Amino acid sequence: NHYCVIMAGGIGSRFWPMSTKKFPKQFQDILGVGRTMIQQTYDRISQIIPDENIFVITNAEYTELVEQQLPKISKENIVGEPVMKNTAACNIYMAKKILAINEKAKIIVLPADHLILNEITFLKKVEYAFSVIEEKDYLVTLGITPTRPDTGYGYIQFIKKDKEEIAKVKTFTEKPNLEIAKTFLESGDFLWNAGIFIWSAKTIISSFEKYLPEMNHLFDSCDYNAKNEKDCIALIYPKINKISIDNGILEKASNVYVIPSNLGWSDLGTWTSVYTNAQKNDDNNAINSKNVLTYNSKGNVIRVKNQNKAVVIDNLKNYIVVDTDKALLICPRDHDQLIKDYVLDLKNLK
Ligand code: GDD
Ligand code: MG
Repeated sequence: NHYCVIMAGGIGSRFWPMSTKKFPKQFQDILGVGRTMIQQTYDRISQIIPDENIFVITNAEYTELVEQQLPKISKENIVGEPVMKNTAACNIYMAKKILAINEKAKIIVLPADHLILNEITFLKKVEYAFSVIEEKDYLVTLGITPTRPDTGYGYIQFIKKDKEEIAKVKTFTEKPNLEIAKTFLESGDFLWNAGIFIWSAKTIISSFEKYLPEMNHLFDSCDYNAKNEKDCIALIYPKINKISIDNGILEKASNVYVIPSNLGWSDLGTWTSVYTNAQKNDDNNAINSKNVLTYNSKGNVIRVKNQNKAVVIDNLKNYIVVDTDKALLICPRDHDQLIKDYVLDLKNLK
């Protein structure tokens, strides 16, 4: 009864200009390990979930990329969304689709772009979460001990009980501002939401009935066993509200539980996280090319696509420098959450 949904529809705009709309980061081998982010996600979960129960939901534009990168997943399990509507929509869609196959389905939802170093712990926590939701109608998330006041994550305040592997969530705050993130971090009561969810199809659908009834209702108008599913989906998608599962459901629901997990986890969503996880030289610069010369420069992440290009950098500290065929980005590392806005502004230029 165990299923997996890999969410792979984001465009990774905080990761511009390496991640672009045509070729988002989940389909790239960001750390240079020989497998793309989505392939690594699949490699991990396929150890406990059979291929026929693994689904990928992404933008219709990327279904071919998924087929190429995950040849063992059948085409029927690679679902294309006609419009990007953020993560609430893809979750209710997949819950209804999987429920139509198996009434008792339990689902693990995975983002396609995370780094998890402690694979064994990850698999153990997932198995444990599955065992919990056999009996309880919980929405379970994995929680990570925060290390910095990052404003790109959801923060979970939980009720601590010694020795318990799972804890009830008191508050869930999606992407707080820096000041609030700092107080959360200092209080020591909070975990980051890893964005990995375990729930039964039935439980998540009843949460949508409660908190996003209109969206739930729209998806009820399609028949997930019928040939015209795609046409029906194409009709309803334009009417759907853009909202994340975190803002739409997890911030509101009272049956959210967290499993604190030491996963060696990182959302490779921003240049800061790449900087943290990349190899650095003696000056703490993370540079991917031998043809980059630096003087009096420290703490920079420097990525050049054309490694034959000579680059000289003098007196630069804690910056992001990314050079591709089409774009050049230079911005302070602690502005990496603004890159999303740069991309929007660029669009308006055109
Ligand atoms: N199918 C589909 N459709 N997938 C999507 C869509 C969509 O419209 N939008 C985003 N995704 C995918 C992304 O590709 C990614 O794998 C996953 O859903 C999460 O989306 P992000 O856009 O990366 O979310 P986030 O990083 O801002 O925030 C989430 O993850 C954080 C941890 O990495 C939240 O769950 C936070 O609470 C959490 O801390
Ligand atoms: Mg992310």
